[in-house]
Amino acid sequence: MAKRLPLQGLWSNRMAFVLAVSGSAVGLGNIWKFPYITGQNGGGAFVLVYLLCVFAIGMPIMMSEIMIGRRGRRNPITTMRLVGEEESGQAWWQIIGVGGTLAGCIILSFYSVIAGWALAYIFKSISGVFMGSSAADVAEVFSSFTGSWPSVLLWYTAFLGMTVAIVANGVQRGLEKAVRILRPALMLLLLVLVLFSWRHGDFEAGFSFMFASDFSKLTANSVLVALGHAFFTLSIGMGAVMAYGAYLPEDSSIASASLAVVIVDTLIALAAGLVIFPLVFANGVSPSEGPGLMFKSMPLVFGAMPGGAVFGALFFALLTFAAWTSSIGLIEPAVSWMVEARHVSRVRAALTVGGLVWLLGIATVLSFNALSDFTFLRGTLYANIDFLASNILLPVGGLLITVFAGWVVCRNSSADELAIGTGVRFRLWRALTRLVAPLAVLLILLNAVGVLNLSGG
Ligand code: PHE
Repeated sequence: MAKRLPLQGLWSNRMAFVLAVSGSAVGLGNIWKFPYITGQNGGGAFVLVYLLCVFAIGMPIMMSEIMIGRRGRRNPITTMRLVGEEESGQAWWQIIGVGGTLAGCIILSFYSVIAGWALAYIFKSISGVFMGSSAADVAEVFSSFTGSWPSVLLWYTAFLGMTVAIVANGVQRGLEKAVRILRPALMLLLLVLVLFSWRHGDFEAGFSFMFASDFSKLTANSVLVALGHAFFTLSIGMGAVMAYGAYLPEDSSIASASLAVVIVDTLIALAAGLVIFPLVFANGVSPSEGPGLMFKSMPLVFGAMPGGAVFGALFFALLTFAAWTSSIGLIEPAVSWMVEARHVSRVRAALTVGGLVWLLGIATVLSFNALSDFTFLRGTLYANIDFLASNILLPVGGLLITVFAGWVVCRNSSADELAIGTGVRFRLWRALTRLVAPLAVLLILLNAVGVLNLSGG
């Protein structure tokens, strides 16, 4: 069968593809979310489980998603329908694309609110409010900012507008050039901040919190959160990576591109933790602070460093940029589906999806002020939306993707697409994809809802 061609041209080379996927992977998940959930889930043992999930479950699923994307060469919904029909005669596999596209919109709704905070913090930093601040001052800046919903709504709208603008014009690939410079800049700045945090923070306490595993702190729920975050941080389980795979040239290696993305993503998350936790322990900030953790600790290092106002602004600008390139991956499946399947213009599609997401995001905006006392199940509205999307929808999406790639796509098709031979690397991918990943995801999900109680309690 002749291979399908993509509708909008190919990536110029593998590097462009790695940049695009890492642009989607590296974002708030690494720098804002990873530290705060690590703090909430007791540190070391959680980090270890997270790393296992990233490498043993996340990486093979990422390869599967790229592989399916390149086979289908359309938006995730159409791709899953086409490849599903070809491989099994079943079109209903498109449910993966539908679920993922929705999950992307739900995630974008809260993601943009936090990105709005980061955007606002560029200006707070440059104004010098953090210079010489104590932990109490920094916490005060945070709570008075997030406590007033009109300003949060404004910054949130500004950020979502930035995302819609790029996607409406179909110029996201223009950002790839910027990623090439700004990604290393972010990594370099994080490295400098780690050194500063080492000098000004309690590095020993921070380090051992992150890496000394105390498994008694690990609950079934923490394991689920670690798994959900592995999906969230790698942008998998919802078709974002599949959408990028649609433009990957035939001869590019999926395995090495995935490995590169996974490594960069992990290093950035660990570096963020190594900046934040030493500051947390030296300044009496609570590690289980929650979503405000980064915003209440990071400014402390800027307050203590020469030129901190500028470095702070630079940091938040780089973070906002990283969030921007990620948010594109969240909205693109919905927009490209509307364009390809519903034949509306990109501008209309982006505005429609953006408008719906904006409405949903108001729930998160209000979770930190007007509705902060309105809690149920997992906590605030934000906590519930995040839990549903990150810890349920992404793992379920990932489970279906890995089952599809491992059991439905025939061995020859996947061997042909992955092009890593049929030797040990291919067999490892297949074992992980067919057995390890689906079983692990299933067990973790069941264990967390209490159907099975593996912890024996
Ligand atoms: N991976 C992104 C981050 O860590 C979030 C994201 C999830 C982006 C899913 C696209 C798709 O910030």
